[in-house]
Amino acid sequence: MALYSSTVMDHFRNPRNVGVIEDADGIGEVGNARCGDIMTMYLKIEDDIVKDVKFETFGCGSAIASSSMATELIKGKPVSEARQLTNKAVAEALDGLPDYKMHCSVLAEEAILAALDDYYKKHPEKAPE
Ligand code: FES
Repeated sequence: MALYSSTVMDHFRNPRNVGVIEDADGIGEVGNARCGDIMTMYLKIEDDIVKDVKFETFGCGSAIASSSMATELIKGKPVSEARQLTNKAVAEALDGLPDYKMHCSVLAEEAILAALDDYYKKHPEKAPE
């Protein structure tokens, strides 16, 4: 069996939602100290919906594929749903990642949570109880 699924390869070669949102409502930057990979997520939120999401990932192919898939999974969804996104869901949507690459999907989960934290910091009235 190939090491990476065709879905991983597709999102690595043609990542969705790459870039920056200049007037983002929330920005989250996370990194993994071991591998040195860095991921930044930008969220545009309107009426509690993730209207737009973009990412920049300086990292491995699995991190790029994970960020791409994570953006696809939360785009257009309510913020409450985006908050529930787990790295497991990202990896499953990618049709699996090798065990030693699971931390790459963790980075995507953490980046989205960090961007949402930033959004709540700027809009405390929206923060969950
Ligand atoms: Fe660290 Fe992929 S090797 S994020």
